[in-house]
Amino acid sequence: MTSEAIVNIGVLATMDDGEGPLGLRRDAAVVIEDGRVAWIGASADAPAADSSYDAAGAAMIPGFVDSHTHAVFGGDRSAEFDARMSGAPYTAGGIRSTVAATRGASTEELAARTRHLLDEALRQGTTTAEIKSGYGLDVDTERRLLEVAARFTEETTFLGAHVVAPEMADRRGDYVDLVAGDMLAAAAPLARWIDVFCEEGAFDVEETRRILAAGRDAGLGLRLHANQLTMSGAAALGVEMGAASIDHCTFLSDEDVDALAASDTVATFVPGAEFSTRQPYPRIERLRDAGATWALASDCNPGSSFTTSMPFCIALAVRDMGMTPSEAIRAATRGGAQALRRTDVGRVAVGARADLALLDAPDPVHLAYRPGVPLVDRVWRDGVATTSWEPRAS
Ligand code: NIG
Ligand code: FE
Repeated sequence: MTSEAIVNIGVLATMDDGEGPLGLRRDAAVVIEDGRVAWIGASADAPAADSSYDAAGAAMIPGFVDSHTHAVFGGDRSAEFDARMSGAPYTAGGIRSTVAATRGASTEELAARTRHLLDEALRQGTTTAEIKSGYGLDVDTERRLLEVAARFTEETTFLGAHVVAPEMADRRGDYVDLVAGDMLAAAAPLARWIDVFCEEGAFDVEETRRILAAGRDAGLGLRLHANQLTMSGAAALGVEMGAASIDHCTFLSDEDVDALAASDTVATFVPGAEFSTRQPYPRIERLRDAGATWALASDCNPGSSFTTSMPFCIALAVRDMGMTPSEAIRAATRGGAQALRRTDVGRVAVGARADLALLDAPDPVHLAYRPGVPLVDRVWRDGVATTSWEPRAS
């Protein structure tokens, strides 16, 4: 058994026991043993450990839990972004260009790209990431994408229902059959979750219901891309079916907000997508008043949100969605864990994974106060200080 004591933490945001919404503990220390948090307390009382790291008064938070990424893909869509910033609208159709590039890439090329993105995310404090398939849209490529995702995370999501595969554009009923049939059968052993892009240009509510029900029958948990471009019935469907999370939520009705608050479905916001598509940002006030639970995620994908930076998402949520800094930081850590139905990440507590981010700042508020500044100084993932995303052992 090896142990490390991190001492002289000026402010430790535990997202658990402590002061205020971030569960703050001042002048704290954390002891890590075999990848887990073994002790938390006053720095002056820290027990002896095999090694020690002096945080020199800086702030520490749990590693970010990014509960929504599409981090396995090929190709580049910067020209599409450029055109959009010159006035072209965002549509679901751009996904098809990434599908062509992804199908043409080898599994090892895809894995190298994913690893690069995850390394980038880790250096910005992310220690848990969900990864979706969805740029394969045929049985073999969807399976390959999930194989790549599973090397890096246990939070793998089958998104065969991203859009109808281009070669089946005039046979959408057959495509829904394929997703709910052979494609799901190939994906299920590699996936924890199933997701559907329920939107105009992608899948309607009834198609979504059918695909999610098939996923549930195959043992997968449910998540949903809901109400990104329109106020569809997707959010209501997600709550009705007991989804762990409905994501985007750019356009929610008052009924959707009430239904969310009365459920244990988390609303996951991805303001990087509003940023990159120049859509209006959703506001948080109605969810706060209703008592709903929400998360923040990057939605890292080559079309609508090509960022891996949770601090960037925090800054957007504070500036443009009405979140307080504490609400945004909690949403990016504990909220993401709730969206993945996890209690071992997103908080600093005895027994939780030792996934920690030390900031080059005296207070976590700096994550929003100093936008665009690389404030994450040192990251421990599974108890190991690292700058690269090693595949999880478990
Ligand atoms: O979450 N909304 C659907 N999927 C992605 C966008 C995918 C793309 O444009 O390539 C999203 O925004
Ligand atoms: Fe997405």
